[in-house]
Amino acid sequence: MQANLTLLPGDGIGPEVVAAARQALEAIAARGGHRFDMQEALIGGCAIDATGSPLPEESLQACEQADAVLLGAVGGPKWDDPNAPVRPEGGLLAVRKALELFANLRPVRPHPALVDASPLKRERLEGVDLLVVRELTSGLYFGQPKKRYVQDGEPAAVDTLIYTRCEIERVARAAFELARGRRRKVSSVDKANVLETSRLWRQTVVEVSQEYPDVALEHVLVDAAAMFLVTRPASFDVLLTENTFGDILSDEASVLSGSLGALPSASLGERRNRFGLPRGLYEPIHGSAPDIAGKGIANPTGTLLSAAMLLRHSLGLADEAAALEAAVDSAIRDGCRTADTARPGEQALDTQAFTKEVIARI
Ligand code: IPM
Ligand code: MG
Repeated sequence: MQANLTLLPGDGIGPEVVAAARQALEAIAARGGHRFDMQEALIGGCAIDATGSPLPEESLQACEQADAVLLGAVGGPKWDDPNAPVRPEGGLLAVRKALELFANLRPVRPHPALVDASPLKRERLEGVDLLVVRELTSGLYFGQPKKRYVQDGEPAAVDTLIYTRCEIERVARAAFELARGRRRKVSSVDKANVLETSRLWRQTVVEVSQEYPDVALEHVLVDAAAMFLVTRPASFDVLLTENTFGDILSDEASVLSGSLGALPSASLGERRNRFGLPRGLYEPIHGSAPDIAGKGIANPTGTLLSAAMLLRHSLGLADEAAALEAAVDSAIRDGCRTADTARPGEQALDTQAFTKEVIARI
C-alpha cells in the first residue's frame, strides 16, 4: 500500500524519538512492500519560534490531508512563561480538537523483562493488561470560560469543566467496543459524589452499557481508582475516563510498565482517511523531557509502539503492527535497555542503538 503520514516531531526529545519511529516505519515498509510518504511539520515550541503559532495553518493542513499523524512531544522551559500569550501545549490541544480525536487509547501492559524497573512488587504486576480510554476533546481542557481576571481587586482564574451527553456517549461507546475485543470489563472513572458532570457521565455510561450486556460495567471514584491502580492494577481491563482524570491516571499507570517512556497512545475519532479507517494521531504519552533532550538517550519505545498502533488502526496493517511490537518486545527480552530502564551497573543503549536493535528484529 501507499500511505501519507505527517510527522510532528515537536520539542525536546520529540525529534529524537520520532526519528527512531521513522526508521522503524521505513523498515516495515521495505519488509511488506509498502510505501509510506512521510512529511514533517512544525508543532509546539519550535512552531512558536518559527511562526508565532504553536500549530501553524500549514501543519494543520498537513495533518488533515494525511492518512495518519505521528507526534513526538511538545513543550519545554523556554516557553513556560505563565504570561506568554501562546503555549506549545496549545498546538497539541488544537490538533486534537481540529481532527475531533475524542478517544485517546493508552494501553498499559508491563513487559515481563521490565518488571524490576517498576517500583511495584512483582506480584502486583502479574496479569496487568489495561487500556485507558480517555476523553480527549472536552472537559476542563476546553471548557469556556477559561481565563485570568480580577475579582474584588484580586487576581483570579477560571477553568470550566463541561461535558455534553453526546460527548460522553461517543467515548463510552468506544470503550465498550474496545472491551469486546478484550476481557469485557469497563471501569468508568468519575467523581459522582461531588461533580455534576460526573453524575451526567455515570448516567450516560449506564445508558450506553445497556447496548453491551456482554460487557461488565463498574463505576470507580477517581480517588479510589488512583489507589486501585497501585493496589490491584490487574483487576482493570478498560478504564474509561474524562479528559483530566485520564491524563493523571495514565501517567500513574505508566509506572506499572516500568517507564513513562514505554507507553504509546492512539487518538481516534469519527473522521476517516483514504482507507476508510480513522485518521488518527499517535504519540507516546511522555512529554518533551527537556532534561535529557538533545543527548540522544531517550527511550523510543513509546513512539515505536505508537507507530505500531498507527499501522493497526489507521492503515489496517495488523500483521505489520504485530511485527513491530514483536521486534520491540524481543529487543527488550534480549536485554536491550535505554537509560530509564537500565539497572544500576547495566549498560544502557542510546536511542539510535536501541532502535537499531529493534529494526534488526523486524
Ligand atoms: C498528555 C500530555 C498533554 C495532556 C499535555 C502536553 C497538554 O500531558 O498527552 O498526557 O495533558 O493531554
Ligand atoms: Mg499527560
